[in-house]
Amino acid sequence: MEFEQFCNFLPKIELHAHLNGSLSATSLQKLGCSNEEISEYQKLAELQATEKTLNECFKLFKVAHNATKNPQAVYLATKYVIEDFYNDNVAYLELRTTPREEENMSRVEYIESVVKAIEDCDKKIIVKLLLSIDRSNNLKVEENMEVIIKMKEKYPHVIKGVDFSGNPYVGGFNPKLFQKARDSGLFVTLHCAEIKNDKEVEEILKFRPDRIGHGTFLLSNDHIWKLYLDTNIPLECCLTSNVACGTTKSYKEHHLQEWIKNSLPFTLCTDDKGVFGTTLSKELVLACQYFSLKPTDLWDMTLKTISYTFASDEEKTFLTTTLQDWKMKNHF
Ligand code: IMP
Ligand code: ZN
Repeated sequence: MEFEQFCNFLPKIELHAHLNGSLSATSLQKLGCSNEEISEYQKLAELQATEKTLNECFKLFKVAHNATKNPQAVYLATKYVIEDFYNDNVAYLELRTTPREEENMSRVEYIESVVKAIEDCDKKIIVKLLLSIDRSNNLKVEENMEVIIKMKEKYPHVIKGVDFSGNPYVGGFNPKLFQKARDSGLFVTLHCAEIKNDKEVEEILKFRPDRIGHGTFLLSNDHIWKLYLDTNIPLECCLTSNVACGTTKSYKEHHLQEWIKNSLPFTLCTDDKGVFGTTLSKELVLACQYFSLKPTDLWDMTLKTISYTFASDEEKTFLTTTLQDWKMKNHF
């Protein structure tokens, strides 16, 4: 099997995908966006990134947010994104999204639309939901967490965790807030060290989330790096996102190489496949091109990733069998 084909057909696991950043141009079109709006949403993929690009990136999500302002549109957006991941042979997807209140939609309606689309999915893909706390919306974080916890009690089979995301230049990490989520049985994954912010990173590492996203600046300080090594927390690595946003200079210089070199836990993810013009298969190909990973390494990484998911034991066993069967069938 050709190498790219291998990455495409491998049953994959996606653990870091934001709903509104994962919408493809076709999906945005179906949701009523104009060509101009779609070009705006995708402009980062063509730009030469600078240190300011990450800050600019947060404006682009407005295009998708404008297209998902009512429950029906949120339902369709979720359906389209799940179909895209399924078509890329993703077997297990943890989709994350920030519950949003609009003129014609409450946060509860937003969450219920996403949950319904997940429940209605008839494709062979397991989908779970993580609800995000937007760090740049500081006024409502407590209230947002209350809603998330209530919704988890209502849909425990779908809602598995919370995420901490949004513009890292704004707001800060509040351990007490996330402890509440943990006490309610939610898993916790946090965007961490996307920019240099040693104080916050130290607080996050002391909290010991179940996973962290990006981790770009964990290596910028020996003390922080040592703290991280003590935790052994799995990293959700988003190669193209980091390069497109300019937090990493190039694929070649990406911090993933330190995880590979030191056998640290990581998994490859897309972050916002619509905004960054990528797919999970492409991310796997890139990791191999730049860090000399072989197909067997990707298979091993995927197998290990099963233990980083927020799936049930039964689902983990099912995924393990799926991967093993695939390996046998494809003789490698
Ligand atoms: P949504 O939560 O489904 O609306 O997806 C888009 C949102 O995800 C953005 O408005 C951000 O709050 C968050 N997001 C997407 N990509 C990133 C990232 O790279 N860092 C931090 N937050 C992000
Ligand atoms: Zn992210």
